[in-house]
Amino acid sequence: MRGGGAAPPWEPGLRGLLRFARLEVGRPAATLASLTLAMACLEGVELLLLVPLLRLAGLDLGGGGLDPLAESVGGLLRAFGLEPTLGAVLAVFAAAGIGVALLGSVHASASARLQAGATARIRKRLYAAVSRARWTFLARRRSSDLALALTAEADRVASALHFAVEIGTGAVVAAVYLAMALRVSPALTAATAACAAFLLLAARRRLLAAREGGEEISLALAAWYGEMTEHLSSLRLHRAFGNADRAEERFDVLVDRVAAGGSGLSETHAGTRFRNEAVTTAALAVLVWVAVEVFSLGAGSLVLLLFLYGRLMRRAGGLQQQVQYMAGELPAWDAVARLEAECRAEGEERGPPPGAPLVLREGMRFEGVSFRWREEGPAALEGVTLEIPAARTTAVVGVSGAGKSTLVDLATGLLRPSAGRVLVDGAELDPARRAAWQAGIGAVPQDPFLFHDTVRANLLWAAPGAPEADLEEALRAADALDLVRSLPGGLDAVLGDRGSTLSGGERQRIALARALVRRPSLLVLDEATSSLDSESEERIRAALAALHGRATLLVVAHRLSTVRGADAVHVLEGGRLVESGSFEALLARPGGRLRALAAAQGILPPGAGP
Ligand SMILES: Nc1ncnc2c1ncn2[C@@H]1O[C@H](COP(=O)(O)OP(=O)(O)O)[C@@H](O)[C@H]1O
Ligand SMILES: [Mg+2]
Repeated sequence: MRGGGAAPPWEPGLRGLLRFARLEVGRPAATLASLTLAMACLEGVELLLLVPLLRLAGLDLGGGGLDPLAESVGGLLRAFGLEPTLGAVLAVFAAAGIGVALLGSVHASASARLQAGATARIRKRLYAAVSRARWTFLARRRSSDLALALTAEADRVASALHFAVEIGTGAVVAAVYLAMALRVSPALTAATAACAAFLLLAARRRLLAAREGGEEISLALAAWYGEMTEHLSSLRLHRAFGNADRAEERFDVLVDRVAAGGSGLSETHAGTRFRNEAVTTAALAVLVWVAVEVFSLGAGSLVLLLFLYGRLMRRAGGLQQQVQYMAGELPAWDAVARLEAECRAEGEERGPPPGAPLVLREGMRFEGVSFRWREEGPAALEGVTLEIPAARTTAVVGVSGAGKSTLVDLATGLLRPSAGRVLVDGAELDPARRAAWQAGIGAVPQDPFLFHDTVRANLLWAAPGAPEADLEEALRAADALDLVRSLPGGLDAVLGDRGSTLSGGERQRIALARALVRRPSLLVLDEATSSLDSESEERIRAALAALHGRATLLVVAHRLSTVRGADAVHVLEGGRLVESGSFEALLARPGGRLRALAAAQGILPPGAGP
């Protein structure tokens, strides 16, 4: 789009930005525009009052359009019951000036409000779009891009919006000045207008430069944010590999790139500012020369001329500058708007807000369920049919990549099957029921996310408003009560980033308590003990055994020791269900898949071959 010269440099995104302005911040923008207009009118009054002022001060108005103008201003004053004496005119002049200053301050705070409001609107819209997007889409995105769009880029969009409003209202003010200037001298006004038009048109290349500068800033920010986010969440890894220095160097390079982008753009802006001021000053000098030498303007007209054209030219220069500022911020709008559009296009069908959580009475059923992460990609699950009866423990085993976690995500409603159905008590787990289902289930993944908050807050996150006794009961059931009591502060101990103050096994037990405090309809454990030592695993296994028959459990693991106590075991292989039955029956089946897994893990009875 750029370079070809087809679209002006400010065009990509501008229309969208203006539509956003109209729909989302229409009222504040209109308020701002009317304030600017009022200011322009008052400034006009100020300028008009200069005419009788100059005459009262004894300056020669030099005929032309000014004498009648002075007369009409005088007439206007008289209409308000004021004699046009020096005192009266000065009083009105000062009042108008103070009015302009007052409006200016109201304008400044309205403008700040507009910008703050727009930033908030942009963030809320984008966040809503992100949180409603399908998981298959979000799982592929770099989370730092989302964070960047929600923070720095949203601020830049608001500032682009601010400039857009300023440009619009600035143009109106310039028009008011132009109308007045036309009254003083049509010829000089035409010359000024030509000069202003030249300024605006000659700046096309600079606009392009500003836009490219803005694009570079967006790219540099994205690279820096991406690396920084990843780096900060892997500090331990960097330390452990002795790579901290290298990471620091990388970081410095990326930060320098952001800084260079920022100062490059500022230089473009500063260059433009100088050019604008140089051109307007020179043009004003020429104008005065022509006025005196060619039109033999009197002293009064000259003073007025300097005032009027000086302001007009500065307005025109300022307008051009603001167009350029906006061009530099527009790439942020492109980035934010694109992201929001992508999220909306990948929006998940939403059902009604959940009433009471769904309670599982009979069980779940997978009916010929297939799932592909990408439309043309391989199937992660293929034609899987199985039951997860209520109040039973169902196990799914298989080697890594067999599709176990995909099955879990389908059971929790995070994913929808590409084919087949997932049923809860006989009814399909569709968008209408998903929220209520998810409100009532608990999950413990392999690497649970604990929030940087107290134990209490981490538990209440799953069950807001749960009484203290329930928290303790859940902790006891997860074999974590003694652990929490031993922490300084007990339930009010802060767990650190992602629970970094705890060992892996301890974290897992708190995560289990968090799932249990909901009294979940379905408790899902996806490799929850895979990375734990055997003692920690045994503690959790014992905690789960105590729930056996009271809660519906879906236990997923590649390690067979984890699923020994299950009522039924299903074996997944390459996304297909290859074997189902009780653990003992499958283990005893000659040539069976579970038996082969057991042999590979060295847990077959001695002497028994696969
Ligand atoms: N977010 C994802 N995007 C694309 N493919 C995925 C994603 N998650 C898993 N897969 C693919 O789906 C298949 C099954 O993965 P998964 O269900 O995680 O297996 P398991 O939990 O048994 O190790 C694998 O081939 C894996 O590469
Ligand atoms: Mg997995």
